Amino acid sequence: KSDSTYDYIVVGGGTSGLVVANRLSEQKNTTVLVIEAGGSVYNNPNVTNTLGYGKAFGTDIDWAYETTAQEYAGGSSQIVRAGKALGGTSTINGMAYLRAQAAQIDAWEAIGNKGWNWKNLLPYFKKSEKLQDPANYPFLEGSGVAFDPAYHGFTGPVKVGWSSTQLNDGLAQKLNATYQNLDVPVPYNRDANSGDMVGYSLYPKTVDADLNIREDAARAYYYPYQNRTNLHVWLNTHANKITWKDGEEVTANGVEVTLSNGKKTVVKATREVILAAGALKSPVLLELSGVGNPQILSKHGIATKVNLPTVGENLQDQMNNGLQFESKKTYSSDKSADYVAYPSADQLFPNSTALGAELLRKLPAYAAQVASANGNITKARDIYRFFKIQWDLIFKDEIPVAEILLSASGAAYSSEYWGSVPFSRGSVHLSSADPTAPAIIDPKYFMLDFDLHAQAQAARFIRDIFKTEPFADMAGAEITPGLSTVAAGADDKAWSTFIYSKYRSNFHPITTAGMLPKELGGVVDTSLKVYGTSNVRVVDASVMPFQVCGHLQSTVYAVAERAADIIKEQS
Ligand code: FDA
Repeated sequence: KSDSTYDYIVVGGGTSGLVVANRLSEQKNTTVLVIEAGGSVYNNPNVTNTLGYGKAFGTDIDWAYETTAQEYAGGSSQIVRAGKALGGTSTINGMAYLRAQAAQIDAWEAIGNKGWNWKNLLPYFKKSEKLQDPANYPFLEGSGVAFDPAYHGFTGPVKVGWSSTQLNDGLAQKLNATYQNLDVPVPYNRDANSGDMVGYSLYPKTVDADLNIREDAARAYYYPYQNRTNLHVWLNTHANKITWKDGEEVTANGVEVTLSNGKKTVVKATREVILAAGALKSPVLLELSGVGNPQILSKHGIATKVNLPTVGENLQDQMNNGLQFESKKTYSSDKSADYVAYPSADQLFPNSTALGAELLRKLPAYAAQVASANGNITKARDIYRFFKIQWDLIFKDEIPVAEILLSASGAAYSSEYWGSVPFSRGSVHLSSADPTAPAIIDPKYFMLDFDLHAQAQAARFIRDIFKTEPFADMAGAEITPGLSTVAAGADDKAWSTFIYSKYRSNFHPITTAGMLPKELGGVVDTSLKVYGTSNVRVVDASVMPFQVCGHLQSTVYAVAERAADIIKEQS
């Protein structure tokens, strides 16, 4: 292996990496190597079990990245999970297949990424998808699942749909009736993947509906193609850094790796090195390779190859909390209810117009606070532009401002929820020149007060759902947090004690190698090439310039599909 040479090296055999490796290796005369730190989880029941969400957490296929103490959120650190396996985080995620509001992807273009808009990305959502029509699965009768064929792909690699574990006892319909009975109803939305997410929907998942097992990136993009002689995968192999050609231009010529036997070696790339190690790893690999903020690099004795100070900045995630209520009915644990509501600002906030006006006044101060928290590496005026776009998305385009999930198990209803578009931004940076050292991850959860307000308001909204018929009649007392812990009518401050002590990362980190114009702090250009390099790209969740209201994987698949086309066109 040690003297091998490939056209392309893809670092990270996860959700995005396997898409790009698959598509590039469709070209018969092109050789592709995937370097993956984890192993195969093809037969791992913690992965395949469609009701096994959480079973892989804390096992050896979970990177379980730890954040710094979160000073704005009570001081505790958080664990941010990510898959360490062929298939990456798609092997441990919640399998929800939910895209974005069209206007959110259009905002990628509005900030300066020409050609990156919903219309151009939709064909790639479809290209990656194989929707399994629920009409062909009799066990879904009565479940209420639905979709609009205009927005789906039926011949792509990733199986999407509903399996035999889908609950079909009428709960979905009762929840819909409840949403329609709210003072400000949340309309029924037949298909939240159409680019319009607002409303109440039954969402599809990445699942093999015939076999009732999880669909992941390896099952979709690798195993059916593993006999391609020009596609190699090195498992249990850790990428340490990019190696560079001598010369004026900054050109990668390989990757230093630590093999499964502990030996270090360099594998050569004649065309490109493509980073797909995830939003909390790809920026750190850039730094280990000398691409980043010279002040940070020099602290660790790393020579600066490209002065690109925003590598690892602009980290955005969401914060996840949950409420629980007693249920009068007992639900079996071998079924799952996958119901989502995406309220717009008008539907979530009782005083949306006034709130919007107040927030607009605060944006310059928010931007200054974010900039000053990172030593003005990102500029307040740029962050203000990002925030104004986000404000327009919320108050003009009326994107969803929260995600409210509902599930039923045993004698309880659980509702996980999060504000969809927090404003707080943090960073991820290397802590050492040792490539295996944990990075310094600081998402700055709840740094800005709108984020707490949205999180508290979503909790109030859930309480309203449980006070509204027919749900009011089906549910008993609130278990978590319970009215004795957070009183009815509690203000944000009173909610914050519960929220800060119980929240977790929503595991949707993005923008750590953001696709943005260089002058706005971008790390990659519209062809996903790292500024200042001639042949290094990032193709994973790191590049998304703004948060999406859906979950990340569908957009990660679509972006990676487009990335592969761009790479093919340019080489
Ligand atoms: P991904 O993590 O998939 O790939 C990175 C790969 O690089 C991994 O295989 C990793 O092992 C490898 N790697 C890292 N460092 C390396 C190194 N130095 N050398 C070699 N290899 C290295 N989304 C969704 O749409 N629906 C959902 O329900 C959920 N639920 C959910 C739950 C949980 C617990 C998590 C953690 C995440 C989700 N998500 C989700 C998010 C979604 O799954 C996630 O954003 C994408 O899968 C990320 O894809 P990437 O390609 O960016 O990274």
